[in-house]
Formats: sequence, structure tokens, C-alpha cells
Amino acid sequence: MAKIKNIVVLTGAGISAESGINTFRDNGGLWEQHNIEDVATPQAFAVNPGLVHRFYNERRRALETAYPNPAHAALAELEAALGERGGLLTIVTQNVDNLHERGGAKNVMHMHGRLHSVKCCLCGRRRDFGGATHEGMKCGDCGGTGSIRPDIVWFGEIPHHMDEIEAAILSCDLFVSIGTSGAVYPAAGYVQLARSFGKQTLELNLESSGGSHLFHNSRLGKAGKIVPAWVNEIIKTLP
Ligand code: OAD
Repeated sequence: MAKIKNIVVLTGAGISAESGINTFRDNGGLWEQHNIEDVATPQAFAVNPGLVHRFYNERRRALETAYPNPAHAALAELEAALGERGGLLTIVTQNVDNLHERGGAKNVMHMHGRLHSVKCCLCGRRRDFGGATHEGMKCGDCGGTGSIRPDIVWFGEIPHHMDEIEAAILSCDLFVSIGTSGAVYPAAGYVQLARSFGKQTLELNLESSGGSHLFHNSRLGKAGKIVPAWVNEIIKTLP
């Protein structure tokens, strides 16, 4: 294996599945139980904010009894190992949970927002917030009432950190996608971006995804097994 110092990992719901967090598109996944249009669009929040608050309160509650699994821990270990040697791991996650951070990772970009953050629709300010949100909440910054929304990137909105993510992919040696179906852009297009920059690409997923053929290599299995195994291999190649 060629020497690798700088890695970008893109994660999706599959990395948190073994922690007990629902994925979206697997059997019984969240988008089978709920209509995207009812809970994950700005229009849904305008029409039925109570339902949207309840949906994300449930997601936040589910996290209270969920813990990072060996895949989260392995990525934190890789981050530390690369950092000690002047390298870098950038974790770009589509997940709104906090399991990467609780697993010990520090360099994490949440491109679809975070469950533990709220945003004011009036003044645009964000605040860390871990409790249940509701329609009557007042913004601590502008004083607006009813304007607080979950800080989640909904369908039709622009993901966070786009420029930083592209810059990280441009400067990496290897791009790795873990536990994502590749159904949602722009995340789904990052493998092609990485390849257009001449980067090596690897997919780690439970099963072949729609975009598997886009990667140089693909390994199938549960993230809790195949991510620690891959991390061990990379760490062995480090000087
Ligand atoms: P999906 O539910 O679309 O895909 C989850 C992927 O994880 C699938 O390819 C599964 O095969 C795989 N998987 C399931 N269990 C796994 C395990 N134990 N180990 C490894 N892989 C496993 O979730 P995402 O791709 O993350 O966006 O979905 C992308 C975005 O769509 C989400 O961020 C969310 C959703 O709509 C927003 O809400 C904005």
C-alpha cells in the first residue's frame, strides 16, 4: 500500500447503524416511516412546525441511549495516529448525530447540520442546544418567538462547509466513503470529484451501493468490523 498521510472520510447513516441509530433508506429506515416532504423541508416547517420539532426531538432522544461503536472509535484512533505524524484525517459526515465527536474525533464537518444545534429563522444565529425544541421557543439573540428551528440542512437547502470539503478532497491522498447509499448530492458526487483530482478512492459499506462502481476499491461488511480492520492496515503503513 502506498504511503498515505492525508485522508478524507465521508460518512453516512450506516456508520451509526450499529449504535442503534436508524438509517434512512434501508428496510424500516426513517424515510419508510416518514414522508421527507412532511419533516425535512423548509416548507414542512412552515406548514407544520410542531411535527418537524417532534421528528427531530425523537432523533435527539434516540441519541441519549446510543453510544459510539468500534467504527467511530477507529476513526478517532486514525485521526490521532495521522496527526502524530504530521498527517490529517478529515471526517465529512452527512450524519446529524454526535457519535464521531463522542467517539473521540475532533476534525469533523457536519455537512447536513447537527441535532444539538438550533438556528433562528429571523436572525440566522446558531446556538448549541441539546434539549427538546418546540414552536414557542424564543431566540436568545433577536428575541423572535417561534423562529427557532432544528439546525438541519433540509432538502432544497445548501449543505455546510462545501468549500472546505472540496479543499480537503483536493489535498488528500485517499478518499473513503463509509456507510452511505450515495443517494444524496453533493455528498454522492464527492467520489467523482476525488477521482477528477486523481485521488485513490475506497468504499466501505454493508452492501454494494448505487455508486460502488465509481470507487477504485470496495469492501463490504458491517462498519463496526471493516472500519477498524481498514484503520489497522493504514496505521501499519505509517512511519
Ligand atoms: P442511507 O440510509 O441512504 O444509506 C445508509 C447506507 O449504509 C446504506 O448503503 C446501507 O447499506 C449502509 N449500512 C447500513 N448498515 C450498515 C452497517 N452496519 N455498516 C456499514 N454500512 C451500513 O443513509 P445516508 O447515505 O447517510 O439527509 O443518507 C444520506 C442523507 O439522506 C442523510 O444525511 C439524510 C438523508 O435524507 C438529510 O436528512 C438532509
